[in-house]
Amino acid sequence: MTLELPVRPRRNRKHPAIRGFARETWLGPEHFILPVFFHDTPGCAEIASMPGCVRHDLDSLLREAEGALRDGVGSIVLFPRVDDGLKTDDGAESWNDEGLVQRTIRALKSRFPELVVVTDVALDPYSSWGHDGLVSPDGRILNDETVAALCQQAVSQAAAGADIVAPSDMMDGRVGAIRAALDAAGFEDVSILAYTAKYASAFYGPFRDALDSAPRVGGNAPADKKTYQMDPANRREALRELELDELEGADMVMVKPAGPYLDVIREVRNATTLPVAAYQVSGEYAMLKAACNNGWLEERKVVLESLLGIRRAGADIILSYYARQAARWLRQG
Ligand code: PBG
Repeated sequence: MTLELPVRPRRNRKHPAIRGFARETWLGPEHFILPVFFHDTPGCAEIASMPGCVRHDLDSLLREAEGALRDGVGSIVLFPRVDDGLKTDDGAESWNDEGLVQRTIRALKSRFPELVVVTDVALDPYSSWGHDGLVSPDGRILNDETVAALCQQAVSQAAAGADIVAPSDMMDGRVGAIRAALDAAGFEDVSILAYTAKYASAFYGPFRDALDSAPRVGGNAPADKKTYQMDPANRREALRELELDELEGADMVMVKPAGPYLDVIREVRNATTLPVAAYQVSGEYAMLKAACNNGWLEERKVVLESLLGIRRAGADIILSYYARQAARWLRQG
């Protein structure tokens, strides 16, 4: 039996070259930013919940950066594991010009001037409370006082040579304040990648293991980040955050996590002319890795599909722990 079907979408899928004509989205190494963990002691540490990722020492991090460049991934974002002895209530180590991040930026930029170095702006790795902001004695996360600290942190990172600072803290008004602080210090060429819609997600668990940066239980401080990170139930609110970040001078905006928030990525893509980034976070990596290590999913195919899905949703830039591996797979064709 032949159906009377003048319109047959399958004709556009009948041959690899014809599928190529119809392809709307593609992935390339130029879309990726590689997140890296590192600490101040010699030797690398495995991260139990993120097989294949390590916390680097400086030598290993330099090799990782070199490898990323070789794979075609030209940007990395830095996440330090700060020694417990340096964690304080005010997070002052975050703007120490001789701190781990600042020294690491200088080492990376002197070895690889072409590497784009992105830094995280937030207090959690430096805070005795594990919060992105300052905690008041009665347990509130202080907004405006935190923003002042973040400005010092961002300027110190810029002075060390960061190309892009990425505030991930979700305080109100921090993008505008950081822009003003950078400009006042003569860093008008340093970009701001704003974590615009960052959700209070359970998918950050492995990251907090990697850095020992989970909110500390006990005392007055809140056990979660729900008073500053966004409610996973909300989509319109992402547009409200977007509007503010644009007005405040963000150069690029981010949605995080990525996979469970594809609708938000699309919403933001449709509402802005700025480049949109999405962060495939530690828990997304852990899920894929665990299933693949068990032989339940085919790693290369599912990882590239997950990244393509994030691009299709509207992301120009993807932060992913799979960045180097994906870039190599794409090279192989
Ligand atoms: C903290 C920060 C977090 C991540 C990036 N920056 C964790 C958090 O907000 O608690 C998570 C990244 C990941 O899970 O891969 N400022």
